[in-house]
Amino acid sequence: MTTVKAAIGEASALALDASDPMARWRDRFVVPTGADGRPKAYLAGMSLGAQPVGAREAVEAVLDAWGRLGVDGWFAPGGGWLEADGAVRETTARIVGAHPAEIATLNTLTINLHLAMAAFFRPAGRRTAILIDAPTFPSDRYAVESQLRHHGLDPAVDLVVVGPRSGEATVRVEDLEGAIHEHRERLALALLAGVNYATGQLHDIERLTAAVHDVGAVAGWDLAHAAGNVPLAIHDAGVDFAAWCTYKYLNSGPGALGQLFVHERHADAMAARRLTGWWGNDESTRFEMADTIDPAPGAAGWRISTPPILSLAPIGVSMAMFDAVGMTALRERSVSITAYLEMAIDSLVPDAEIITPRDPTARGSQLSIRLPHAQARLAAIEALDVSADFREPDIVRMAPVPMYVSYHDAWRAARALADTGPDTTAQRSPG
Ligand SMILES: Cc1ncc(COP(=O)(O)O)c(C=O)c1O
Repeated sequence: MTTVKAAIGEASALALDASDPMARWRDRFVVPTGADGRPKAYLAGMSLGAQPVGAREAVEAVLDAWGRLGVDGWFAPGGGWLEADGAVRETTARIVGAHPAEIATLNTLTINLHLAMAAFFRPAGRRTAILIDAPTFPSDRYAVESQLRHHGLDPAVDLVVVGPRSGEATVRVEDLEGAIHEHRERLALALLAGVNYATGQLHDIERLTAAVHDVGAVAGWDLAHAAGNVPLAIHDAGVDFAAWCTYKYLNSGPGALGQLFVHERHADAMAARRLTGWWGNDESTRFEMADTIDPAPGAAGWRISTPPILSLAPIGVSMAMFDAVGMTALRERSVSITAYLEMAIDSLVPDAEIITPRDPTARGSQLSIRLPHAQARLAAIEALDVSADFREPDIVRMAPVPMYVSYHDAWRAARALADTGPDTTAQRSPG
């Protein structure tokens, strides 16, 4: 599907929706509504994905099984909780381009980054530094700084931060490669964002992983904004570990469980140096309650605690939707609808500066828009039933997530930004 500049306008947005079979997927979501009951244009999926219709039923089914079966829910048909965290492995593997055995569903994102670093970040000799890209999500920065301090290191010395050049919004891949090379002898780990939370920039994971490996360091990826947003191939890229949440593009609910990828070349080999708990014991022997752990093979061995079954329930529903649509079709619509939003903003909101890369291959379905009075403008568009969010200092983020955002929603979002601008009267368009 292609969109053209001349198509910007309410009628053409509606026509694009009418001609796209994927538009009907919106009906499978509970989309937040405004005061008059009209569905919002929900472009906040980079923060919290919309609720799949089946999520409520899935949670209620767990409550029901708990009530009926009690502890037997772990084993009995109708419960089956023992395998619940493994049930989404296959679909997740398809979404991120991994082998099912490399995936575990556990904890939440920052915790999983810490667990991965506990095994993978072993500063030794001169190799003590961690490299991150900027702008960095605060939790990632706090996590790596605390890991450095945990090893008695000083972040002022051992944290390498590579950000955009002065006057630029996004970081250049050659600058990341340059820094990796410059610090080649002291780099232990690079922890990079697949899609940057603030700018929406998609990094070349394969290229940067290779650069990190070339200097003998570990390549870890935070895929919070990439998983379910863009097609990934993290196994083939040779990524050492990756972690992400399921509450953004994976639509699994506020604070839903995170997921961890550990490449098959490490998953078992690192059994002796990772932090462990009984849920990492092989299922067949877990309840023998032995003093010595019998590790589950692959990433499953990285699990630690009893999984929260209520929190797992919506993940299964959401993952099934990804299987039904497929990342290829999702990506195709994502590219088209993001381009449509971009064109609508360009033509309707003259004081907006889109800082997300203009190249569709260098972004997912998020546009970060630098605006005068951004925070006030966000409040104003919220009043017009458009959900987006604000990031310091002057950025409004909008994600036209292809499963539940329509072209008409994208048009509404751009139109609202135009209508709430400081001097918009002259720019109003008929659409
Ligand atoms: C890039 C990134 N890293 C880390 C986090 C923190 O995730 P959690 O609170 O689940 O640990 C987020 C949350 O939005 C994020 O976007």
